[in-house]
Amino acid sequence: MDVELEFGVPFPGRIVPQANWTQTAIKRLPIPGPFNWRALFGREAPRIIDLGCGNGRFLIAHALAHPECDHLGVDCLPVVIRYAVRRANQRGLTNIRFAVADAREVLERLIPPHSVAEIHIYHPQPYYDLADVHRRLIAPKFLCLVHRALQAGGKLYIQSDNPGYWDYIGQIVPIFFDFQEHEHPWPEAPQGRTRREILALQRGLPVFRGIGIRRDYLQEAEALQQAEALPPPVFNADRRLFELDRLERLAAHATVRKHVAGANRLGTRRRKR
Ligand SMILES: C[S@@+](CC[C@H](N)C(=O)[O-])C[C@H]1O[C@@H](n2cnc3c(N)ncnc32)[C@H](O)[C@@H]1O
Repeated sequence: MDVELEFGVPFPGRIVPQANWTQTAIKRLPIPGPFNWRALFGREAPRIIDLGCGNGRFLIAHALAHPECDHLGVDCLPVVIRYAVRRANQRGLTNIRFAVADAREVLERLIPPHSVAEIHIYHPQPYYDLADVHRRLIAPKFLCLVHRALQAGGKLYIQSDNPGYWDYIGQIVPIFFDFQEHEHPWPEAPQGRTRREILALQRGLPVFRGIGIRRDYLQEAEALQQAEALPPPVFNADRRLFELDRLERLAAHATVRKHVAGANRLGTRRRKR
């Protein structure tokens, strides 16, 4: 089986012979920083980061399509990073790494200013309970960190299926970025760039997408000052959408169980030899 399906949509790339598998996990985070891209990848290349990358579908596809770029995927959930790592390893990728880490912390402590070409954030968790509002990723000070990490002309790709979150994003992102909504699915992934987008599209939910180009005239101190004046992410996330989260969690667990069963079978075969 060298084509894997996720909700019926092929996962990008093919599994290569085991002799060519790579190691794409960064195992020793947090590090005191800053992040040493050159030591990790052995070269200088445009850098692409996916924050809250989930199972890595988008970033792996991008790494396969853009061997000239280096990629870092970050998620705070170890189980999804394990899954991303396994798939990237099995595709023999050398231009991608994954780490279990908090996105804010990574930008704040590990990524040198003006060093990244693109930052991607797909379907950040809306968090439905008011008590969890502080966990919402897209907030004015977080956007200052994104702005600081990006090099001149750098791009923020952002996407959500939550109308409340998207309205809020539309209010604050244009302060730091020249922001354009992108109405249609991304051309290279009409069924969805990420696991969550595929699921949202299959459930008939609207998916909101946009690209922001860094406003280079905005200095760090000025950006922070602007952020102070902006509203925090206190929007109504619409609890009815909670159901989608529940389904996503169930599907993720089912995939992991299948994956573990597959690994066990492999182990059995190896032991028999
Ligand atoms: C709704 S999922 C979307 C995953 C993926 N981007 C996609 O579109 O399929 C949100 C992801 O963000 C991760 N996440 C939430 N808060 C985070 C944080 N502060 N730092 C890193 N990852 C975070 C979650 O663990 C989860 O995997």
